[in-house]
Amino acid sequence: MTRIDLRSDTVTLPSAGMRQAMASAPVGDDQYGEDPSVNRLQERVGELLGKEAALFVPSGTMANQIGLKILTRPGDEVVLGDEAHIVWHEAGAGAANSGVQFAVVGRGGLFTAADLRTAYKPPGHIVFPPTTLVAIESTHNRGGGVVFPQNDAVAICDAARELGMASYLDGARLFNAAAASGRSLAELAAPFDVVSVALSKGLGCPVGSLIAGRRDAIARAVRARRMLGGAMRQSGILAAAGLWALDNNLARLAEDHANAWLLAERLAGMRGVSLDLKTVQSNIVIFRMEEGAPDAATIVSRAQERGVLVSAFGPRTVRAVTHLNVGREQCRQAADLVAQVIERG
Ligand SMILES: Cc1ncc(COP(=O)(O)O)c(C=O)c1O
Repeated sequence: MTRIDLRSDTVTLPSAGMRQAMASAPVGDDQYGEDPSVNRLQERVGELLGKEAALFVPSGTMANQIGLKILTRPGDEVVLGDEAHIVWHEAGAGAANSGVQFAVVGRGGLFTAADLRTAYKPPGHIVFPPTTLVAIESTHNRGGGVVFPQNDAVAICDAARELGMASYLDGARLFNAAAASGRSLAELAAPFDVVSVALSKGLGCPVGSLIAGRRDAIARAVRARRMLGGAMRQSGILAAAGLWALDNNLARLAEDHANAWLLAERLAGMRGVSLDLKTVQSNIVIFRMEEGAPDAATIVSRAQERGVLVSAFGPRTVRAVTHLNVGREQCRQAADLVAQVIERG
């Protein structure tokens, strides 16, 4: 039977070329700063993001946790868009590791500088928790892969600076945001103090994220990474996959976006499906099964019986993600099969 796995862009398998690059990577002990592959990757990603320095870390979650750790103090408040990965998908780590609380604003993962100003609580107040950080996610995972509008990102970060707050970009899918918006990574990263990007999503690497910012911020990130147990040794084997992916897998992201659009167009407008095509800007398709139609768990299990894997993101919310291991024909086939499942009710 066919097996078309659209659960996530993290399910990709390293290609022969990537494995070759990993096997032949020059390595050393990164704790001594002696891994040439890690050093090259950090320099290259730092440059791409227009930041002074970058640090290789094991996961996007760790990058986010380091971001929270170095930009806040326990008891602080962090403003985020609703449905943020940091709030929903990190097992409560922000509270456990950094002792912060979250104020969620906006809709669909997006918000404005006005939302930030409304939520903002000043330091030194007798009862308020001080708001010291704003975090944006782009593209926004639970928001359906939307690119955070750049004018809002600039205005939010300007407001944050004016209010004496720091700004952080969860750019796990910033490579997708760049491909979708036609803006460079450096332009998208420019407003923010600290930015993360993931290699293990659209770029198809087995492991790894980077966190980038000013040299002093990344020096603090080195310590936080160590505290979280994420400092590695001959990690050049992993970094080599990232270098290879930047050369080989970056330019093709638009194909994933076109495939997501194909899937979304097929499903939007079907009876029982609520899918806002405006959110389909990158490689993620999120739709809601309306009341009276089968719920998300039913759609997921019936699609699986036909060989298509998608995720239940809520009781009535389904997510499909395109990536480099599913081609256009497979996406067309997956769209037909999911549509049949929905039609049969
Ligand atoms: C927006 C966003 N940030 C962070 C992460 C965390 O990445 P990881 O799974 O590497 O911890 C994800 C993972 O899907 C994500 O979608």
